[in-house]
Amino acid sequence: MNRRAAIIGHPLGHSLSPVFQAAAFAAAGLDVTYERWETAPADLPARIESLRAPDVLGANVTIPHKEAVIPFLDTLDPDARIVGAVNTIVARDGRLTGHNTDGPGFVRALHEDAAFDVRGARILLLGAGGASRGIAFALARAGAGELVIANRTLSRAERLAAGVASATGVPVRAVPAVECVGFSAVVNATSIGMSGGPDPAGTPVALAGADRGTLVVDIVYSPEETPLLREARARGLPALGGLPMLIYQGALAFELWTAEPASVATMFDAARMELARRETMQP
Ligand code: ATR
Repeated sequence: MNRRAAIIGHPLGHSLSPVFQAAAFAAAGLDVTYERWETAPADLPARIESLRAPDVLGANVTIPHKEAVIPFLDTLDPDARIVGAVNTIVARDGRLTGHNTDGPGFVRALHEDAAFDVRGARILLLGAGGASRGIAFALARAGAGELVIANRTLSRAERLAAGVASATGVPVRAVPAVECVGFSAVVNATSIGMSGGPDPAGTPVALAGADRGTLVVDIVYSPEETPLLREARARGLPALGGLPMLIYQGALAFELWTAEPASVATMFDAARMELARRETMQP
C-alpha cells in the first residue's frame, strides 16, 4: 500500500525536506510519498486531523506551527514536552504523538561532523527563537558546562535561559549582546546570514577575539557557506554549517515513522544537489 508523509508549514517555499525525504524513502525501497502541505494557521486543526487517515505515517512541522500543533496531538514525547515545540508527528492507528528531533539532530551534527564534545563545554548561543529553543535544551541535556544565550530581544533570551536552567540544572546566562571570547563553540540560531532572510549579508557576532579552536556553527543552510562561516574559515577557526543538523533531524523523523534506518548519505546527496540547482537559478 502506498503511504504518505508530509511537511506542514507556511510558507514552505524553500524547504529541502521534500527532496531529501523522498530520496530516503526511495533508497529504502519504501512506497511512501512525501508531500508538501502548505498550511495557513487557520487551517492547522483540520490539517492535523487529516493525519489520522490510515495511510499517513506522520509529518514534519515547521515555521510557524511548531508550538501551535501541540493542542491537537494525543501525546507528547518527553523531550518535545520540555522544549515546548514539535517538529515531527508520528501517526499510529489514528493516534498522533509529537516529537522534537531538532535538538538531537543538532547534537549529532556536532559530534559526527565537527568531532565536538559537548560535555563540559562553554557555548555561546545566538538567538532565542524557535530554532534556538530545541538547541539550548539539547545542549544542556548533552552535558554542556555553561550556556550563554545572546539575543537582540533580551526578554526572550531570559525566558529561554530560565526554562533551560530549571529543567536541566545547567548554568545558563542571558545577555543582549556579547563578545565571542572564552567559548569552545558559538552557534548562530538567528536568521542572520540566510538567503532571503532579514540580513543575508550580515553576521550575528564579531569573531575578532575568539579563542583559537572555537567551533563556529551556523544553523542556516542556505547558502551552505554563510558570511559567518566564511569569516570563521578566513580566521582559521573550525566551522560547521546547518545542513548536517537539517539532515539528521529529518533522519530521526524518518526512523520514527518507519522504524528503519535512514540513509543519511542519500539525504545529503539529494539536499546538496537541490541547493546547487537553486544556486545556479539565482539571478
Ligand atoms: P526561528 O524559529 O527560526 O528561530 P524566530 O522565532 O522568528 O525564528 O527567531 C528568529 C531569531 O533571529 C530571534 O532570536 C531574532 O531575534 P529577536 O528575538 O530579537 O527577534 C533573531 N533575529 C532575526 N533577525 C535579526 C536581526 N536582524 N538582528 C538580530 N537578531 C535577529
